Amino acid sequence: MKGVVLAGGLGSRLEPLTRITNKHLLPIYNRPMIYYPIQTLVDAGITEIMIVTGGNNAGDFLRLLGNGEEFGLKHLNYTYQRGEGGIAAALRLAEHFSEGDRVVVMLGDNLLEDNIRPFVERFAQQPKGARILLKEVEDPERFGVAEVRDGRVLSIEEKPRQPKSSFAVTGIYMYDPRVFEIIRTLRPSGRGELEITDVNNAYLRTGDLAYDVLSGWWTDAGLPETLYRATTLVREREAKRPHPARHVVSA
Ligand code: DAU
Repeated sequence: MKGVVLAGGLGSRLEPLTRITNKHLLPIYNRPMIYYPIQTLVDAGITEIMIVTGGNNAGDFLRLLGNGEEFGLKHLNYTYQRGEGGIAAALRLAEHFSEGDRVVVMLGDNLLEDNIRPFVERFAQQPKGARILLKEVEDPERFGVAEVRDGRVLSIEEKPRQPKSSFAVTGIYMYDPRVFEIIRTLRPSGRGELEITDVNNAYLRTGDLAYDVLSGWWTDAGLPETLYRATTLVREREAKRPHPARHVVSA
């Protein structure tokens, strides 16, 4: 299983914070944003990871992350997305890297509390197809929204005015190699992007889309409010962690 972190796009919803740097390099509490999705993949047991970046500050990712030694990795792979063609367009750039393997894809501005390892293990047991992770939210109209019944996804709509449920499709997606064939068939949406929701709907149409629901917190960090929220959530989690010094037994 390979891991892909999507950190392209222009982050225009965070202007002027993103005028001179990439959104995914902005701080979330005590770390740059990109650290969190990388850590999520590493915690799930994924060691071969590609970062898709873009914009004018791509070199900064290399300076910051190097070969991923801080995460216990031997190597990190990078590729560059020109422009802002959409999440599916960014993922397409990882086809060569995937080498026909399955991929766990995570959006570079998503953070979550849960360890996704059990979901990745379930996906590995799946004979084929895709697996998405849902989270109940109060503002589903901001996201891809999944209508679910009897353990099955019935439909997914991208930012619907009238959501059919409160289940947001989070930015963690698991795909078999067919994903790259699907992306080749996509046409740009109204906002001029190749949409990941169209990819998920292609799997849905052939009955190959499974899902799990997250129980811990999940947030994106692409708006001023959610950037702040992410910082608060991480800070609270850090505060709960036992401080290493407390375990030192003095002689
Ligand atoms: O956060 C989850 C949501 O992310 C999903 O519920 C939606 O279905 C999905 O479309 C997406 O919605 P957003 O409109 O919030 O996506 P955004 O354009 O903010 O992009 C999210 C991340 O994807 C961004 O941090 C980097 C990556 N990306 C995005 C674009 C448009 C790229 O790598 N390249 C791109 O061209």
